[in-house]
Amino acid sequence: MSTPVSTPSLSLLGKVAIVTGASRGIGEAIARGFASNGAKVVLASRKLDGLERVAASIRDSGGEAIALACHTGQPEQVEKLVADTIAHFGKVDVLVNNAATNPFFGPMMSIEWSAWDKTFEVNVKGYFAATRAVAKHLLDRGAPGSIVNVASVVGFIGSPLQGVYAMTKAAVISMTKTLSMELGQAGIRVNAIAPGLIDTKFAAALTQNEEILNMVMQRTALKRVGQPDDIAGAALYLASDASQYLTGHTLVVDGGWTVA
Ligand SMILES: NC(=O)c1ccc[n+]([C@@H]2O[C@H](COP(=O)([O-])OP(=O)(O)OC[C@H]3O[C@@H](n4cnc5c(N)ncnc54)[C@H](OP(=O)(O)O)[C@@H]3O)[C@@H](O)[C@H]2O)c1
Repeated sequence: MSTPVSTPSLSLLGKVAIVTGASRGIGEAIARGFASNGAKVVLASRKLDGLERVAASIRDSGGEAIALACHTGQPEQVEKLVADTIAHFGKVDVLVNNAATNPFFGPMMSIEWSAWDKTFEVNVKGYFAATRAVAKHLLDRGAPGSIVNVASVVGFIGSPLQGVYAMTKAAVISMTKTLSMELGQAGIRVNAIAPGLIDTKFAAALTQNEEILNMVMQRTALKRVGQPDDIAGAALYLASDASQYLTGHTLVVDGGWTVA
C-alpha cells in the first residue's frame, strides 16, 4: 500500500480528538496539549463538572473543546460517546484511551472479584470498546487515524501491591500490538504510552509515601517525579503525523526509572 507521506509536523489542525479521563491529571494535560496544537477536543469522564471546567478554560485560551459524560467501563456509553462526537464535530481522527482505575492496593491474593471486574472493565474493556467504535468509524470513512493507549510501566514488570492493575496494563500493551497489525493496512496507527510515576491524584498513594517515593527516585535517572505535561508531549507526538511510521509501539516515559 502506498500511503502519501507528509512533512513531519506536530500540528493537529483539522483533527478531532477524543480524550478519556480528561477532567484532571494526565488526560487534562493531553487535552490541553492537543487543543493548543489545533485539535478540536472532546473531553470525557464520568463527572461533567470537572470536564466542563477544563473545556471552558481551553475555550478561554482560544481552543475548541466540548465535555461529554461517559463511564468508560460501560461499552454502550463509550459507543454513545463516539456517536455524539461524530454528531457534534462530524468525525473523529484521534482517540486517547486514558481513563483507568485501580480500586485495590494490596497483595493479589486478597483481591475481591468486584475489584477485579471493575479494573478489567474500565482499563481493558473500556479501551477496547472505544478503539473498536473509533476504528469502525475510520474504516467507514476510509480515513487514517491514531489511537493512543495510556498503559503503564507496571505492564512490563512484576508489581507487588498493584498486581491486577498491572495485568490490565500488560493487556493494553498486547492489545496495542495486535490492533496495530489488524488496522495498519487501513492507515490506522495504534500506539501506547507507558508512564512511570506521574504527579496526579491517581498516584497520590505512591507520591505521598516517602518510602516508595525514595525507592522510585533512587532508580530514576532524571531524579524527579513526572508531571502530566511530560506525558502530553508523548501523546502529541503519537497522535500527530510526526510519528507517521510508528505503530504497535509502547513509548516508555518514566524519566529513566525502568532503564536499568
Ligand atoms: N499517575 C501515574 O503515576 C500513572 C502512572 C502510569 C500510568 N498512569 C495512567 O495514566 C492514566 C491517567 O491517570 P492519572 O494519573 O491522570 O489519573 P487521575 O488524575 O486520577 O485522572 C483519572 C481520570 O480518569 C477519569 N475516570 C476514572 N474512572 C473513569 C471511568 N470509569 N470512566 C470515565 N472516566 C473515568 C477521572 O474522571 P471522573 O472521576 O470524572 O470519571 C479522571 O478524569 C491512567 O490510565 C493511569 O493508569 C498513571
